[in-house]
Amino acid sequence: MSPTPNTRAYGYTDTLDAEHYVTALRSDIRKGLTSTPKSTSPTWFYDARGSELFEEITQLPEYPLWRAELGLLRQYARGIAARTGARSLVELGSGSSTKTKLIIEALGPAGLHYVPVDVSADALHQAGAQLVRDYPGIRLHALRTDFTAPLVLPELPEAGPRIVAFLGSTLGNFRRPARGPFLRGLRDIMRPEDFLLIGADLVKDEQEMIAAYDDDQGITAEFDKHLLHVLNRELDADFDPDAFDHVAVWNSTESHIEMRLRSRSEQLVKIRELDLAVQFERGEEWITERSAKFTAEGLREEMAEAGLRTQELWADSDAGFVLVLATAD
Ligand code: AVJ
Repeated sequence: MSPTPNTRAYGYTDTLDAEHYVTALRSDIRKGLTSTPKSTSPTWFYDARGSELFEEITQLPEYPLWRAELGLLRQYARGIAARTGARSLVELGSGSSTKTKLIIEALGPAGLHYVPVDVSADALHQAGAQLVRDYPGIRLHALRTDFTAPLVLPELPEAGPRIVAFLGSTLGNFRRPARGPFLRGLRDIMRPEDFLLIGADLVKDEQEMIAAYDDDQGITAEFDKHLLHVLNRELDADFDPDAFDHVAVWNSTESHIEMRLRSRSEQLVKIRELDLAVQFERGEEWITERSAKFTAEGLREEMAEAGLRTQELWADSDAGFVLVLATAD
């Protein structure tokens, strides 16, 4: 059963108005589908079904990055706890809690302040309810906000050093020019005793990178096409998922994988809520997600440019994944 406001056993701050989701969705889709090339935000994949499909992706043999990060956290969570002495954990885009739990347990859940940050109220309530059940002594302050905008954290009196965690290589969803200001924004809310923990997937063999976004079972293709179901439902559109093919492409100039939906024919799609008809040429490709791949040195430099000093960098060199722990300069 999902918790109602008066049975909630934790703090909850919502900085977004009721219309935020639909307003942001409409403007992103209108802008993205009237641009050349067509290109939209990956945010819209993650309704309940989309989150479920992403969970399936994390279990695929072709998608090692999720397991690599889990392995690094299993290995280094205690070290992170010892190094940081953190008594609060802020987690951006707090999806599934498997990895979070490793950090929470290493930090010691009793009295720990945990601040999950997400745009999805449902995701926050589900994770929140579960965590207070598992860790009765934890102090939870769920924060519903859009962390692509400047972040304002709830006041936590005497909360001790903080870790701000941004896991799963989700940083890769920002393009290079946007990452600087985003990282700078995080740096600006960090105090001298705070730490930033970032998980990032590295550049590797092109075929391996592509396979991670185009698996044999077609789960990623289903995830990609799920966007069409979301748009049909939320914006009263008439996308036919069978009229598109999923493709994954490595863009070496930008050092990112692009997921694209390729129109199988010339077609006109109506998006009634936007009062918009969108023309697709046969073979035209619409970029539905960008996932940047990093080099350890490049990431270290990007962070340094944003005023973040790398304190520790742990790598899984087989999987090509790093965890970086940094402080504000
Ligand atoms: C959750 C954004 C890190 O880019 O690898 C996985 C999402 N998309 N397969 C990624 C995703 C297709 C994932 N992130």
